[in-house]
Amino acid sequence: MEKREQLYEGKAKKVFATDDPNMVIVSYKDDATAFNGQKKGTIDGKGSINNRMSNLLFELLEKNGIHTHFVKELNDRETLVKKVEIVPLEVIVRNVGAGSFAKRMGIEEGRTLKCPTVEFSYKNDALGDPFINHWYALALNLATEEEIEKITETAFAVNEVLRNFFAAAGIELIDFKLEFGRFDGKILLADEISPDTCRLWDSKTKEKLDKDRFRRDMGGAEEAYQEVFSRIGLF
Ligand code: C5P
Repeated sequence: MEKREQLYEGKAKKVFATDDPNMVIVSYKDDATAFNGQKKGTIDGKGSINNRMSNLLFELLEKNGIHTHFVKELNDRETLVKKVEIVPLEVIVRNVGAGSFAKRMGIEEGRTLKCPTVEFSYKNDALGDPFINHWYALALNLATEEEIEKITETAFAVNEVLRNFFAAAGIELIDFKLEFGRFDGKILLADEISPDTCRLWDSKTKEKLDKDRFRRDMGGAEEAYQEVFSRIGLF
């Protein structure tokens, strides 16, 4: 597989073409941003942790019958993935009220929800990724009814697998964001799953082991990412 020109540079990743028109190489950066790019910094070692962790989770999900864009880890920071057309929705699954949900619903952070819930945002930086519902997504032609059904069902299925996986490592999966893509007429799980895109709390102490340490200027982000990495057996 030959790495070719850079196609795109996002906040946390770069994407390169390959000699196969159906495959791209994702390269993870240490750059960290929050609040739609308004806060910028770096978390040392994040690129490699997110790359390896995301790949491990995608492989686990594949074993559980969930189709993803993952093809092959190339090195510490780079992975070969299927070239999908991203559905412009951020799909957020929540088990415990935190972050924007806790604020919007006026509840204290840490309240376990009666059942997992899902929400969508329109993936649009200029608008700050506004909260939308399924009917807006249809009206704006962001996805078809069938795709939204598949995405919702898959998001809850991913939650079941990941919640059990993290629980075994003494980590509570509070919430997380997923992105999906179209490939060969099918919906695949795409993007990444990492401490950048999940809220992960120590099951006992409730210590935050995710990007909230950076967002909220708590310090110790590098150590928290490494802690997750080692607890899931990647050290
Ligand atoms: O901020 P909020 O509570 O809506 O975030 C919910 C979850 O989605 C968190 O785990 C957060 O890390 C993730 N998220 C993300 N990218 C965004 C927005 C949220 O990964 N643009």
